[in-house]
Amino acid sequence: MRNSPPALLFFSGNSNMNLALKVSKYLGVPIAGMTFERFQDGEIHLKSEVSVRGQEIYIMQSTNPPSDNLFELLIMIDALKRASAEKITVIIPYFGYARQDRKTQGREPITARLIANLIETAGANRVISIDLHAGQIQGFFDIPSDNLTAVLLFAQAFKQIPAEDLVIVSPDVGGVNRAKNLSNLLPGSHLAICSKSRMSKDKVDDIKLIGEVKDKIAIIIDDIISTASTLQLASHEIKNQGSKEIYACATHGMLVGSAIDKLNHSAIDKVLVTDSIQIDPLKLAACPKIKIVTVAPLIGEVINRIHNNASVSEVFEEADVNGVSLFVFDNEVNN
Ligand code: R5P
Repeated sequence: MRNSPPALLFFSGNSNMNLALKVSKYLGVPIAGMTFERFQDGEIHLKSEVSVRGQEIYIMQSTNPPSDNLFELLIMIDALKRASAEKITVIIPYFGYARQDRKTQGREPITARLIANLIETAGANRVISIDLHAGQIQGFFDIPSDNLTAVLLFAQAFKQIPAEDLVIVSPDVGGVNRAKNLSNLLPGSHLAICSKSRMSKDKVDDIKLIGEVKDKIAIIIDDIISTASTLQLASHEIKNQGSKEIYACATHGMLVGSAIDKLNHSAIDKVLVTDSIQIDPLKLAACPKIKIVTVAPLIGEVINRIHNNASVSEVFEEADVNGVSLFVFDNEVNN
């Protein structure tokens, strides 16, 4: 660690002000002032209220829809770069457009790469994300990029349950590593995998379960809950196969369309999501199954470490699923 770095400047876009306030509290620094305005046609205008010349800047913004969230981030980076910021680290708790990370057929885009290029071109020097849809998206950046994970937070929530009663279920083949990571943090737990078929982007048609769930407590782990079709179908299949209790956890609670209805009518008893995306309180009120776990201390700690030139990966090595860890700060599941 270097001696007494200059005070850090923490900016936030408008996509998730609740999380920004929590991160600011963890850091013990206020959110740096920025004026946001709109031209009459809707274009964004913004301006830092403080000088950033020669400073290390941290900007947080989730890039979930609407696309204005992404634009706001790009424009913030541009404004601060042009104001002579020394180094800009961008924290993207939810990295949108990540599901199109490869061409599955001709004439399709690779939006994850496009967004990475835009962020880099705007002037970011480093990127921090959480549970990217696919870990290899990190490689779409030519600047340092760290992909944090909320799996430890979820493991903490289930540590009271005897692990041999638990089966961790990946809802699709692409999520097997995530399920394995959670299972490794709950030693003795079992593993099962779903095979999922989709007819269209937002409709899951069939789910087949590979593995034993009978008389076990199932925990389905996914990166995103979008329409909740995946969770609804997977949970019914798991219930049909004899599981006695079903939980779901997903880092990013997008919850679009009839997701709330689907969760309410699913066989899931409780759903954990993080606050990487700001969820409409009306949706939360309509689905008491959903509990929020905050990623604020994780982000705050990582910012502190980057600012002090310390290791980011050690955050995960030092965190202890059973003991007191930095993740416990302000991280009560909101029962
Ligand atoms: C897909 O590959 C993702 O990991 C999620 O399983 C998916 O985005 C969930 O979508 P939905 O909630 O619409 O089923």
